[in-house]
Amino acid sequence: MPRIRWALLFIVLIFSSAAMAQGQALHDAACLQCHASLGGGNAYQLYQRADRKVKSLAELEKRVAFCMTAADVNWTKSQQQAVVQYLRNEFYGF
Ligand code: HEC
Repeated sequence: MPRIRWALLFIVLIFSSAAMAQGQALHDAACLQCHASLGGGNAYQLYQRADRKVKSLAELEKRVAFCMTAADVNWTKSQQQAVVQYLRNEFYGF
């Protein structure tokens, strides 16, 4: 039985890192350029500044949805979630 558990854990890890990689790829293609122009060349400055606006998951989801319009992308719910996950893990930590 433990072997099956390890196999399941492995599968879950593969899928979650694939989702993270997908989130990052989508984010980088659609969101970096405008944020870099706002952040004086550092696209991540918006997420890292001391007075950043987003303080919760609900706010992050709202902001991503809002910025999707600014970026003119039409992501599916799961693509949108992958980007939210990427930003949570990489920058916001909630
Ligand atoms: C056309 C410009 C533009 C594009 C493209 C854009 N954004 Fe933004 N984004 C902004 C602006 C403007 C702000 C707000 C800056 C401020 O509050 O000072 C912002 C802020 C944010 C924040 C909040 C940062 C904080 O203060 O915590 C997140 C998260 C975010 N954007 C995500 C995204 C995502 C994801 C994409 C890609 C789909 C994206 N943005 C594309 C202009 C853009």
